[in-house]
Amino acid sequence: KVYGDRRQNSAGIDLSVLAERARLSAAVTTLDAAPLSAGPLVGGKMSAGAAPQPVISPSDAGRVVGVVSEAQIPQIDQAFKLARAAQPAWDKAGGAARAKVLRAMADALEANIDPLIAILSREAGKTLSDGIAEVREAVDFCRYYAVLAEDQFGDGEVLKGPVGETNVLRLAGRGVFVCISPWNFPLAIFTGQIAAALAAGNAVLAKPAEQTPLIAMEAVKLYHAAGLDPRLLALLPGRGETVGAVLTAHDELDGVAFTGGTDTAWRINQTLAQRQGPIVPFIAETGGLNGMFVDTTAQREQVIDDVIVSAFGSAGQRCSALRLLFLPHDTADHIIDGLKGAMDALTLGDPALATTDVGPVIDAEARDALDKHLVRLKREAKVLHALNAPASGTFFAPVMAEIPAADFLEREVFGPVLHVVRYAPEDLEQVAGALAARRYGLTLGIHSRIESFAADVQRLVPAGNTYVNRSMTGAVVGVQPFGGEGLSGTGPKAGGPHALLRFAVERAVSINI
Ligand code: NAD
Ligand code: ALA
Repeated sequence: KVYGDRRQNSAGIDLSVLAERARLSAAVTTLDAAPLSAGPLVGGKMSAGAAPQPVISPSDAGRVVGVVSEAQIPQIDQAFKLARAAQPAWDKAGGAARAKVLRAMADALEANIDPLIAILSREAGKTLSDGIAEVREAVDFCRYYAVLAEDQFGDGEVLKGPVGETNVLRLAGRGVFVCISPWNFPLAIFTGQIAAALAAGNAVLAKPAEQTPLIAMEAVKLYHAAGLDPRLLALLPGRGETVGAVLTAHDELDGVAFTGGTDTAWRINQTLAQRQGPIVPFIAETGGLNGMFVDTTAQREQVIDDVIVSAFGSAGQRCSALRLLFLPHDTADHIIDGLKGAMDALTLGDPALATTDVGPVIDAEARDALDKHLVRLKREAKVLHALNAPASGTFFAPVMAEIPAADFLEREVFGPVLHVVRYAPEDLEQVAGALAARRYGLTLGIHSRIESFAADVQRLVPAGNTYVNRSMTGAVVGVQPFGGEGLSGTGPKAGGPHALLRFAVERAVSINI
């Protein structure tokens, strides 16, 4: 069965059309003139949280995009109470009723694409093309999960059994889900987690990343405007170690959907393990140490294009981004020369300008961690090429460095740093094995014209998403269901046919007539 085949993915807008660009510029100007505010939104009402803090744009330290106040414990308790009261009716309403709300949300996102992209650009430092892709992905999640809700949350599946007995298997919502999301897809992942939990019949308490509360606030308002009972979705902004920790330790919790770093997933897992009471599911989508393997049959220009997009697109701040490029000795120099030229053609700067290819990294902490990594690369490896960063904002300019082997990297390096490893074809097993030994398993890239090479690499390096002879980022909902294994996550894959199953309980009823 092809799930989700009744939906069409969002077309977004076309940046090559001048009128579209002018509209986006106007939306950015409007945002600059009227900063936003976010805070705890419980039962549809914005309540005063902790003292408001400024949200500063990563592309310009002098630009305040808005203010945010952190949720407090009484607001968290109240959000659980309202969600618990409203959830049974939502669950009972069935998948088809929930699909209507999700489709209305998708339409609302599309209708607001300009202001949403403006916020993504100012608050999260997204380039305009990344902003468009992000709104499209958020829309796609809503429409895709709407179809799954209809297909999987109806009357149930009748199972074959003894004559005279009817056996039915039904899916139902679990109750109240906590959804915790990262800043790097502050609209798509934020909206997508919520859409999945809602589609399955749950209520949601959503905690956005501390860096990106403003876009989250807009998304929650759109959900409510799309007809969702506000008690079913609360926004609880704040830090992970405060609001996140309280939410995940709460007695009223029925499940957690988390996307973020592997270390944070471990921490939440420990918190959940210590709770008394019902055992709840933990859906975690985490980081990656993603490799691309090139052999001598690969087409050079295609490799160069795909490496640039995969390693430096979105300033390398995608979990799917290319971190380790494995080049055969025979063609490595030729490809590295081409990569240097292609890097030089990248434009760094204000992400709200259509000419910008690489925007800032999210904040000073992220930039400092990358600076520290660069110091190590200069000391212990060989920097092959590095660009220069703009002076203002938290920029880290793309770097390409050669390292001896995959085990040089212990953990994910989250930013525009490409690590090159040269290898001899006869050593493929050992070279790929060193990457697999890191136990991540998110994305894998392969460039080769030889099927057996592609098959060997896939056998040696387990990964949730493999891309052959193309870039390795930008999974499309319903087309490339996305998510990793091992240190990279638990699944089920976002934007895939099984996405809703862990958000649900299964109930089997046998009736003897
Ligand atoms: P992070 O782990 O620092 O934070 C993610 C979320 O967890 C935030 O909302 C944060 O406030 C919250 N959090 C932090 N500590 C917490 C705690 N103790 N209890 C509860 N919540 C807590 O990650 P980040 O820096 O926001 O995002 C970048 C990371 O996300 C990268 O590792 C990236 O690879 C990963 N990521 C993975 C995917 C995927 O689909 N696999 C997608 C996007 C990003
Ligand atoms: N889903 C995102 C991608 O594929 C992270 O790049």
